[in-house]
Amino acid sequence: MNFKEHIRVIENFPQEGIRFKDITTLLQKGDVYQAAINEMKKKVEHLQIDLIAGPEARGFVVGAPLAYALGVGFIPIRKSGKLPAEAIEADYSLEYGKDKLAMHKDAIQPGQRVLIADDLLATGGTIQTSISLVQQLGGEVAAAAFLIELGYLNGRDKMNGVEVISLLQY
Ligand code: PRP
Repeated sequence: MNFKEHIRVIENFPQEGIRFKDITTLLQKGDVYQAAINEMKKKVEHLQIDLIAGPEARGFVVGAPLAYALGVGFIPIRKSGKLPAEAIEADYSLEYGKDKLAMHKDAIQPGQRVLIADDLLATGGTIQTSISLVQQLGGEVAAAAFLIELGYLNGRDKMNGVEVISLLQY
């Protein structure tokens, strides 16, 4: 399936010079969404993971169905102040802007193999921070999987040796 034809590109959003990859046009088509998740499943099922962790918000729409398809648990990586139980936090910078990400302290058992999943790898800031949070909690990061990788932003360089798996590259 040609997934790229279902992704809408919006010029100059959310700021001048950014060509925003809008996945909502892919998600709204059930057969395309399902096929994309199934393709990602094929790329990661050999990794023998215990859990998927996905960063808010678009990491949920990729990570949660992938976890469901694989029959493993899903852990949310949330922006600061959203998690109700005891959490750890880390700063991160985005392609545009800055924020903090958080995970529940008891989300991972030491040694569990965790796949980090998100819709998009851009500068890699979000995933770099997600990897650090998972590792701080004692998890082993098996790989990081994305629907889209913006290769020209070199996010792979921030992975500290973690394998990057992406369905679509720009
Ligand atoms: C977007 C996207 C990734 C991240 C990629 O999320 O969903 O998580 O940016 O950028 P990076 O590789 O440069 O870190 P955003 O923070 O915009 O949040 P959202 O999913 O809530 O829209």
